[in-house]
Amino acid sequence: MVQLHDQTLRDAHQSVLATRLRTEDMLPICDKMDQVGFDSMEIWGGATFDACIRYLDEDPWERLNKLSDALPKTRVQMLERAMNIVAYKNYPDDIVKNFIHYAYKNGCDSFRIFDALNDLRNMKVPIEKANEEGAHVQGSLCYTISPIHTVEKYVEKFKKLESMGCDSLCIKDMAGMISPTRAYGIIKGCKDAGIDIPIDLHSHKTSGMTGMAYMKACEAGVDVLDTSFSSLTGATGQPETEGVTAALKDTEYDTGYDMDLLMDIKDYFDEIWKKYRHLHRDQALKVDPSVTVHQIPGGMLSNLVSQLEKQGAADKYDEVLEEVPKVREEFGHPPLVTPSSQVVGVQAVMNVKFGRYEKITNDTKDYFRGMYGRPPGEISEEMYEKILGPDWEDEVIDERPASLLEPQFKKKRDELEDIGLLNKPEDVLTYTIYPDIGLKFLKGEVEAEFTSDELPLEKPEEKKEKKAARQISYPWKGKVKIDGEDYEVVMKSEEKVRVNGKTYDVSVLFPEGEQPAPSKGETKQQQSKDMSGEEIEVHSPMLGTILELKVRPGDRVNKGEPVAILEAMKMENDVSAPSDGKIKDIHVKKGQDVEEDDLIATMVR
Ligand code: CO
Repeated sequence: MVQLHDQTLRDAHQSVLATRLRTEDMLPICDKMDQVGFDSMEIWGGATFDACIRYLDEDPWERLNKLSDALPKTRVQMLERAMNIVAYKNYPDDIVKNFIHYAYKNGCDSFRIFDALNDLRNMKVPIEKANEEGAHVQGSLCYTISPIHTVEKYVEKFKKLESMGCDSLCIKDMAGMISPTRAYGIIKGCKDAGIDIPIDLHSHKTSGMTGMAYMKACEAGVDVLDTSFSSLTGATGQPETEGVTAALKDTEYDTGYDMDLLMDIKDYFDEIWKKYRHLHRDQALKVDPSVTVHQIPGGMLSNLVSQLEKQGAADKYDEVLEEVPKVREEFGHPPLVTPSSQVVGVQAVMNVKFGRYEKITNDTKDYFRGMYGRPPGEISEEMYEKILGPDWEDEVIDERPASLLEPQFKKKRDELEDIGLLNKPEDVLTYTIYPDIGLKFLKGEVEAEFTSDELPLEKPEEKKEKKAARQISYPWKGKVKIDGEDYEVVMKSEEKVRVNGKTYDVSVLFPEGEQPAPSKGETKQQQSKDMSGEEIEVHSPMLGTILELKVRPGDRVNKGEPVAILEAMKMENDVSAPSDGKIKDIHVKKGQDVEEDDLIATMVR
């Protein structure tokens, strides 16, 4: 008998709906899902924590609590990114331990623990802590294809994970590129090597071969398969819960689930799909076997598409897909999963946008320093030098990265108490892991993109069609009238325009049918520009949030030194001084959202 692990409430909407499913649309169906008899359900972790506080104005801890209450019979699981927890970098041991403690306390029965680089040193602390709490511990390895990721290597590492105290194991094929032969090879290899804890296969449908891989996994003795309901799983989500159940019926692998009950649940999610369809991107709806080449996982793919759209670079999609495998090889073949997928993906976007390694993100530098763990394969000295400079050898660490970090929980707790925002210990973790957006959320300043009652919303393409009727070609420069005053403005897109420090929707300034006449003259250059030979403006290279200001008016800076740190595409990027000089003015505040080309600072030479 094979059992299913349902991913509808975590990975399905993370893969195809930008992780935006709200708790109020999950709760009504929990009772029925609880009756199915799934091995377990993943409902939390991964990107859901970030999405809750950033876009939904939902307390992730409350979500966990409510869902686990609504699913009393089913083991509920979170996806735990080892020392990165639910974010993108390493946290100190005490933060990881506290997080697991409070997750377990709020109803998380099972922890699927993985490290993006499959560095087992990073998995030790969370495995031990989850065991200590009494949770089910699933040790997971990221599946990838490269000369160094052989079947033998996977079997060897899974054996180690079993001896580290895991209750079950998982092959995490986040990009959906495991072939039937490889799935069979790894699972059979594990069974033959005497591993006797259950093995779970997690995959995505992206490549088109996953159904076959699931069947071969059954033949190799897999115990659990990951699936999601058809309504929400698109092409980049999991194989369908109903389909896989039907396929295994009347075989020795029969799950024994009630098909009528599954159809009821499907009907419910069909209605949910209609409500959330505006979040869907066409690219995430198509099966695309090129994933076996670019290896970008579903979640990353849909994120990359929406990030490129926001950056006004949607036309660069194919170039970025070509760049990703090159970058990955130069990085020593890391599996592409959060956060390594972000590091590689954003660097690939930068390489396409600004030239290869012309701009290097801080996260890329940290990756090369070993701050994410040990890269799986060799990296050339030439690459190390390109990223870290001639003294790179002094910067690369050999130890487990989190062992370099000081404990933080008490310090963060005190900080939060001083601000007067400490309502429960879980808030300390929200604040520690997401200092900016977490704090904004705890202050009640995050506005939900939408609530369930406001759905469905218009699809962006439909909006675009309406706006196209205005026939403005962007970028557009000209005069607009606001409150009777004329302002000279530059509009980069059809979405918004900034006038006199305020942001206006273009549709407000130009109601349909009105055709503004563009004035002559060029639009502003990207990045930075020498204005008079004396005064230099520093502009934001892309859309993002100002994470930190590195200078104050009066400071002297050298060319290339960071003026500010910009968070874009969930990665930190330096906004550097275009030349030597003295800072005259700073035009942004910490935490402020900026668009491409917004003025960050002025300096004088
Ligand atoms: Co996945």
